[in-house]
Amino acid sequence: MNLADLNKIARAMVAPGKGILAADESSGTIKKRFDVIGVESTENNRRDYREMMFRSQEAMSQYISGVILYDETIWQNAADGTPLVKLIEQAGSIPGIKVDEGTQPLPGCPGELITAGLDKLAERLAKYYKQGARFAKWRAVIDIGAGIPSYTAVRTNAHALARYAALCQQAQIVPIVEPEVLMDGDHDIDRCYEVTEFVLKETFQELYYQKVALEGMILKPNMVVPGKKSAKQASVQEVAEKTVKLLKACVPSAVPGIAFLSGGQSDEEATAHLDAMNKIGGLPWGLTFSYGRALQAAPQKAWSGKVDNVAAGQAAFTHRAKMNSLASKGEWSSSLESKKAA
Ligand code: 13P
Repeated sequence: MNLADLNKIARAMVAPGKGILAADESSGTIKKRFDVIGVESTENNRRDYREMMFRSQEAMSQYISGVILYDETIWQNAADGTPLVKLIEQAGSIPGIKVDEGTQPLPGCPGELITAGLDKLAERLAKYYKQGARFAKWRAVIDIGAGIPSYTAVRTNAHALARYAALCQQAQIVPIVEPEVLMDGDHDIDRCYEVTEFVLKETFQELYYQKVALEGMILKPNMVVPGKKSAKQASVQEVAEKTVKLLKACVPSAVPGIAFLSGGQSDEEATAHLDAMNKIGGLPWGLTFSYGRALQAAPQKAWSGKVDNVAAGQAAFTHRAKMNSLASKGEWSSSLESKKAA
């Protein structure tokens, strides 16, 4: 492992004004997204959609530091035969790859999940590195509900995250460590705080036990937010203050950067929360975005599978990428949202 090089990649992923595009939806998930816009999920349509984003020159060269790809996409070529990985590199962005294989029920823990994909991971990482991937992602899912999460689920998922991260670093790939506490329930913001604290403490303990170098990784956590069904919603400022307080208590300053998932927040909420955190400032790590839905919902709608809409899709993607870029510097304001490029 060359830690100086891993650190260089990790810092580039969270460079000021830049963040990560999570375009790694599995075939099942992208089908759900395409269903919403009435587009059939064929291999070519998935390619065309992603090619549209990767050819958004302003967004990719100025706001997007890296792209998380799904296995299918990392091997695909653009319509003109150029590998999609090359399009990303040519724009000055870094290709990455989702390496987890989704979730399975966790034995003995009803309603809880464990992420699969450790078997043969070392071999897969070597192939992805050869194909151009310089970072990877593994998502663990923790749900909040009556009597959950259990210690078994938190610990087992933290253990798998650390096993994955150690294998990545050995393969000279920067691991994005993503323990996602879901915002699906009716819990309040303080319950989210408490569970996320438990999950992050356990995760960093496992990373230590498994000799993961913190300087060569990125953390991708949820923000501290109330459950979607909670009767008590929170202000942007409360979310920002509680999330920053929690991260300061749990994430060592040796970690180069933290890149949030959007997790079902609206586009503008995800941007406003990130912006408010960076306005608080004085943070020891880069704090940016690694959004899937909050970067792609608008371009998906604008594109809707039509060649004639490619420019509109690119404009919508560029707008969201730019808003989040500003938020990563604490320079966003809601008035900028209406000044959308035509
Ligand atoms: P969302 O921003 O849509 O939550 O997706 C980010 C991600 O990569 C989840 O694993």
